[in-house]
Amino acid sequence: MKVVILKTEDEVAQYSADFISHSVTTNKNAVLGLATGSSPIACYQKLIQAHQRAQLSFKHCTTFNLDEYIGICPDNDQSYRQFMNEQLYKHIDIPLLNTHIPNGSSSDLEHEAKCYEDKIKAFGGIDLQLLGIGRNCHIGFNEPGSSLSSRTRVKSLSNDTILANSRFFKPEEFQPSSALTMGIGTILEAKKILLIATGEQKALAIKHCVEGPISAFFPASALQQHADSTIVIDEAAAQLLSSRDYYMLEEDRRKQAS
Ligand code: GLP
Repeated sequence: MKVVILKTEDEVAQYSADFISHSVTTNKNAVLGLATGSSPIACYQKLIQAHQRAQLSFKHCTTFNLDEYIGICPDNDQSYRQFMNEQLYKHIDIPLLNTHIPNGSSSDLEHEAKCYEDKIKAFGGIDLQLLGIGRNCHIGFNEPGSSLSSRTRVKSLSNDTILANSRFFKPEEFQPSSALTMGIGTILEAKKILLIATGEQKALAIKHCVEGPISAFFPASALQQHADSTIVIDEAAAQLLSSRDYYMLEEDRRKQAS
């Protein structure tokens, strides 16, 4: 697990955009696993700028999103499909047909989950999976208690998550309480993983993810088992890490060596 601590949110966004750009420029057919939530928005804006300024092309890429709410249609403004279209897809050259998001309004969610897994396999697996982290340490919508080898399936959202995400919903709007999400086992099969987090409200989740024991109760801690995962965070999110200085030393050494 590589831990990269940067001063500001903007640096975190630039680092993650450069990381994704590198993956796309070295493999124009890259299969990207993408995330929603507020954490990746600044990274997506930088990718859009790189597309506009430096002709970074996503034409031959394929994307698979982590999750989608159950109970709202893909054309609902609150769906993760619309989030991705608005925050990224409509500003870059990826054909929408290449972008995959679980269909949370399917009448057969179990079948939809299986097809999603099959589709990921048919594309040869995910090359780079981008993740945010919930305050309760969830990844995707794998809430505390999720099996560390879980696959794409329906999950009920915890009260913590419903409360944290209520900031995106107007009081009169329907807020979903379940989702279709890639499982932790699905996520761990990605060749590379990049998790981003900023702000002090994520500090405890990052502490559990990086330095806690591996436990289903802290789903992101499963990333400790992945051979190529990078955690990029700002100083506020890093404030509870015991080995902060060591991670910074390691990153300095990596920079000098490259
Ligand atoms: C949602 C998403 C996660 C995301 C998390 C954190 O619950 N399903 O993929 O990581 O929120 O969101 P934010 O970045 O807004 O804090």
